[in-house]
Amino acid sequence: MILVGFMGAGKSTVGRLLARRLGRCFVETDAMITTREGRSIPEIFEVRGEPYFRKLEAEALDALTDKRDHVVATGGGFPCEPGVMDRLLELGTVVWLAADFEAAYARANRIGGRPMLAGRSVEDAAALYRVRQDVYRRAHLALDTTRMTVDAVVARIVRHLRDRERREGPAAASSDASRAPLDQPAGVGEREDPKGG
Ligand code: S3P
Repeated sequence: MILVGFMGAGKSTVGRLLARRLGRCFVETDAMITTREGRSIPEIFEVRGEPYFRKLEAEALDALTDKRDHVVATGGGFPCEPGVMDRLLELGTVVWLAADFEAAYARANRIGGRPMLAGRSVEDAAALYRVRQDVYRRAHLALDTTRMTVDAVVARIVRHLRDRERREGPAAASSDASRAPLDQPAGVGEREDPKGG
């Protein structure tokens, strides 16, 4: 299963916990790239530029074929290159963690190390966020996580995978090999209980 969403949406945090709950391996496309290159993401952008980074992402996509049983957290721009979202939708269940722009932007800046935000105005970052929504919304499941706890997000995804297993049989769900019926046909409609504290 594959997590997509804007920088700061919580893909790594959710992915790590989800993998633990499901007893699956967790992998991040950014980590696949930094391990291979021996450089941090900001260094890759600085030294080689964004097009080179996108080329490395395309190579990471090819490597995901062997990781269908993993929980995969993708970088925010990963599904946005032409044809990539189609491939992800075939590889497994794709879940969009859709936080409000303000929440995601604040979180990404707080953590830092985001070359796509460095030197960009808030308006430009918001424009990037808007453009990317059209790609992310193609995910099998869309969760507006802005007011959800990490636990609630993980529980919701586990429920989605279990429902799918019930509908399509354990083989389909354990390999995530085929496409799940849409929970959310378009956009983000789903909200779990607001964060209790
Ligand atoms: C990027 C997002 C980053 C990382 C790189 C580019 C993007 O991942 O892949 O800095 O284009 O949005 P996160 O979404 O984990 O921040």
